[in-house]
Amino acid sequence: MDRNSPIGVFDSGIGGLTVAREIMRQMPRERIIYFGDTARLPYGSKSQDTVLRYSRQIIRFLMTKQVKAIVIACNTASAYALETVEKELDTPIIGVIRAGARTAVRATRNGKIGVIGTEGTISSGIYTDVMKNMCPDIEVTGKSCPLFVPLVEEGLLHDSVTDEIASRYLSELKGRFIDTLVLGCTHYPLIRSTLGRLMGEAVTLVNPAYETAIELKGLLEERGLTNEGAGSAGEKYQFYVSDLAEKFTAFATSILPDEVKETRKIAIEEY
Ligand code: DGL
Repeated sequence: MDRNSPIGVFDSGIGGLTVAREIMRQMPRERIIYFGDTARLPYGSKSQDTVLRYSRQIIRFLMTKQVKAIVIACNTASAYALETVEKELDTPIIGVIRAGARTAVRATRNGKIGVIGTEGTISSGIYTDVMKNMCPDIEVTGKSCPLFVPLVEEGLLHDSVTDEIASRYLSELKGRFIDTLVLGCTHYPLIRSTLGRLMGEAVTLVNPAYETAIELKGLLEERGLTNEGAGSAGEKYQFYVSDLAEKFTAFATSILPDEVKETRKIAIEEY
């Protein structure tokens, strides 16, 4: 395995850019091939079989780019596909759930943790299972928040509509006296300030994107796979989608530190 090869990062669409952004911040030497499945999102309301099939296709595409490691930046795909695909691959692959769960378990003081995510992630119960495995006494309350993804995609990051919907979703968690809240969906870090304000200062918000980048760094170091040089900006980050390349480019430029010049559209069903 070539340590100067890129890292493959994928998501159902734009949300995984929050994970790519953290990798860029924490590992500025690394090259990234990002794939967003913009033709087939959302994954959050699809079945496990479908999300697994999509994930396998994307992994096959990323392998054609000789990636040295893969990050499933999507919580739903991590919940539904990681356990299966990691057994099928020699290339190291991580998701976002274990890192987020571990941080939440370390952060809680009263043992009561809330998790918000898509319907798929919450109904899979994976965050609860992983956290209870780490600490059996922990009490986990999951809440699906299906309207957050479209609100973020519409750019309503600081808007009274988002406030109103968030306060309805979060009221149940407030009643459970949680002291830690996992943002278990790629899009939620983008409305972090709203969520933080509504939950109050006493509640620690856990962003799995940040923790996943730390886990990736540790994994690359352990396997001797950290990049030794830095390529030029143009070739360093490459972006691929299954649809709406221009819209993706505009969004990516708005949330990443540098302008994204080009996004290529590929026929993912062919992989
Ligand atoms: N990326 C998905 C996740 O983190 C959210 C968007 C979707 O439902 O596809 O679960």
